[in-house]
Amino acid sequence: MGIGEGEPHPAGSGSSSVEVVDVLRRGELVVLGRIPSASNATLVCDVVLDDVELRCVYKPVRGEVPLWDFPDGTLAGREVASYLISDALGWGVIPETVLRDGPVGFGMVQRWVDTPDNTDRPHPSAPSELPDGRVDLVDLCPPGAVPVGYRAVLRAFDSIGEPVVLVHADDPRLQRMAVLDVILNNADRKGGHVLEGLDGGVYGIDHGICLHSEDKLRTVLWGWAGETVPAHLVADLADLARRLESPDDDLRSDLAEHITGDEIDALALRTLVIAETTAMPLPPGHRPIPWPPF
Ligand SMILES: Nc1ncnc2c1ncn2[C@@H]1O[C@H](COP(=O)(O)OP(=O)(O)O)[C@@H](O)[C@H]1O
Ligand SMILES: [Mg+2]
Repeated sequence: MGIGEGEPHPAGSGSSSVEVVDVLRRGELVVLGRIPSASNATLVCDVVLDDVELRCVYKPVRGEVPLWDFPDGTLAGREVASYLISDALGWGVIPETVLRDGPVGFGMVQRWVDTPDNTDRPHPSAPSELPDGRVDLVDLCPPGAVPVGYRAVLRAFDSIGEPVVLVHADDPRLQRMAVLDVILNNADRKGGHVLEGLDGGVYGIDHGICLHSEDKLRTVLWGWAGETVPAHLVADLADLARRLESPDDDLRSDLAEHITGDEIDALALRTLVIAETTAMPLPPGHRPIPWPPF
């Protein structure tokens, strides 16, 4: 899309979250296409407000596949609640996300994260070749070849029976995401839900099955299991726990639009436990890793 006089221009990386949220909420949604690999209806759109244009994803509630173990609310609402928590922590792990009406009804709208894999090509969903030898933030590698600066999470066999190791980078941006996942009780942190943005940020996407009141944490980011959470993250969690316990804080009422009171209480408890113990949990015995892991 051209950037010319009188035409909308992409919101620059200098835009604040508040500005981005405003565009996502009030802009006109123009559907560009559907992501074929997505399990729910996931539409790539441009959202245009006055002279600003933003790429985004739009997941209409109508396109959600019902899940027996998440009978309350909507997946879209859980995505927005997860964003509100990431934002309240000041961590910016989840791209700006809102709930709004759109061409196919109410749904979640989330800022698109430009990555080396999804830019400069006509269809954002088409896979592109990675440069040889590059190891992603979450990846598979042969046993004995775990790169320096990576943590091994699981030994497995690939589709042709070769042994492989699931690894992730020992990276503070990823560690913060791993802590957020514990708080969110994220049941689906796959490698494909970790995006390394061209802006240098590491972003998490697809938080539709988070925030259940029962333990459902399923993640590939187990590399810090049982370790001490860095002090600056613990301080943020202590602040969040205080806000969630305060009946006057807007965060509780904002969350209550998307998740149940029991789920907010369980979130407050998970936050308090990490703030007080300062320890990452150990993987449960049953299905701790989403499968397939990408
Ligand atoms: N905010 C985003 N920025 C960039 N790509 C995204 C974003 N959200 C989704 N995608 C792309 O769309 C794919 C499907 O989205 P996802 O949220 O995983 O949907 P589903 O709920 O159907 O699994 C992702 O794997 C990713 O490639
Ligand atoms: Mg997904």
